[in-house]
Amino acid sequence: MCIVGTGYVGLVTGAGLAKLGHSVMCVDNNHAKIDGLKHGVMPFFEADLVGLVQEGVYEGRLDFTTSFDDGIRDAQFVIVAVATPQMSSGDPDLSQLKVVITDLRQIAKQHLTVIVKSTVPIGAFKMIREMLKTQTAGQSSLALVACPEFLVEGTAVWDFFHPTRTIFGADTEQEARNVGVLFESIPGPRIYTTVETAVLIKYASNSFLASRIAFINEIAQIAERHGVDVHDVSRGILLDERFGKGYLTAGMGFGGACLPKDLAALTYTALQAGILHPILCEAITHQNSVQFTHSIELIESVLKGGNRRITVFGVSFKAGTSDVRSSIPVRVAKTLRDRGHTVIVTDPAALDFAHEELTNLGLICEANPWVAAKDSEAQLFLTGWPEYRLLDLRRLKQVVTRAAIFDGPGVLDPDSVRSAGFTYVGVGRINSSGHMRIQ
Ligand SMILES: NC(=O)c1ccc[n+]([C@@H]2O[C@H](COP(=O)([O-])OP(=O)(O)OC[C@H]3O[C@@H](n4cnc5c(N)ncnc54)[C@H](O)[C@@H]3O)[C@@H](O)[C@H]2O)c1
Repeated sequence: MCIVGTGYVGLVTGAGLAKLGHSVMCVDNNHAKIDGLKHGVMPFFEADLVGLVQEGVYEGRLDFTTSFDDGIRDAQFVIVAVATPQMSSGDPDLSQLKVVITDLRQIAKQHLTVIVKSTVPIGAFKMIREMLKTQTAGQSSLALVACPEFLVEGTAVWDFFHPTRTIFGADTEQEARNVGVLFESIPGPRIYTTVETAVLIKYASNSFLASRIAFINEIAQIAERHGVDVHDVSRGILLDERFGKGYLTAGMGFGGACLPKDLAALTYTALQAGILHPILCEAITHQNSVQFTHSIELIESVLKGGNRRITVFGVSFKAGTSDVRSSIPVRVAKTLRDRGHTVIVTDPAALDFAHEELTNLGLICEANPWVAAKDSEAQLFLTGWPEYRLLDLRRLKQVVTRAAIFDGPGVLDPDSVRSAGFTYVGVGRINSSGHMRIQ
């Protein structure tokens, strides 16, 4: 089996499939990444991934290469997990996918089943088929199967072995089932369907998650104006089982490599389909941008003045990952830096992987949170790392020069923060907790 694109999805999938007993070659055109992996260095932080990769390597089922030829030489299946980033139009950039398909067509000598794990829009498979028609046929023939990925960064390894569902989209049920066999020992529901249904389920799922965040953030703004704690509202809502669990925590808006781009792609797909006003998609995007502006206003109310020395706790786009792609915390830190404040950032995982990127934005990186907080005039908690709940706030008070906390993801308890001597402002939080008891 060959995996093309050894990023968050490709590496977890490759190591997971090796654990299932498959022989896996992971290909990436990033030489530094492959060189690192060959020496046991992970390109990002993901819980339980190091052990899984090491196990696959030691048992001889997992290897890494920059050579596509080597990767597919003995392969029957190729899993494509390259990035599909957002273009300014909102449409995903499929250039990495096109390169892979062109290369495959030229190099492969055997029949291959190509499994597309990258998130691609409706129409991408049609485009691939057109490409295959116009290219000089080699000795190979390719079957195409869409297998959209639902893993969540931070729990990606767990998700690989316990997916919420696995989807196989193909032109024929037989092609879909041939790929399903590879994941035979993985539990959970399986969906065998058309390519179009498979990819639309993926886009609709991520956009639905985005809509929940946008919705609760709007409720948070209403709650703030009426002295209601939005966390109490979320708890009250989620007692109704029809709403499922989670994804109803107010904060600074959604970021990361997937939700914004997938929502933009769905909006673009709707426009392309002649839906002139995909009202809901546009409203979610708009609310997310309003929420960012609102968060900056809340932070300014904590700063109360210019040229502050600020400590930012957490820059990854969410807890449990080192990923800073389209991270709202990074955007916030950069905005404050651009407004003339001195911004020191600390994070349990991101600095090891994004130090250069953060430094280039004018942010000062400091791994030790106590050193980062020293002499600060405001302490901004921007990523909901659970570690921050354990932080000794009384000790923190001793090292700062002005004790003023902003809590974006609602990771801290307002009462504990205040009783430690800080002022506290959180998104949708009120002055004191304890207004609701659920019995
Ligand atoms: N990250 C997530 O949480 C997640 C979850 C579900 C779905 N997805 C989707 O999966 C896809 C991959 O996402 P990701 O976060 O793993 O991306 P990523 O950027 O972490 O990894 C992509 C990798 O592909 C490599 N690459 C690009 N072109 C190549 C080529 N021609 N040959 C070999 N390697 C090449 C890059 O060097 C990079 O390492 C995207 O479509 C994304 O939307 C991501």
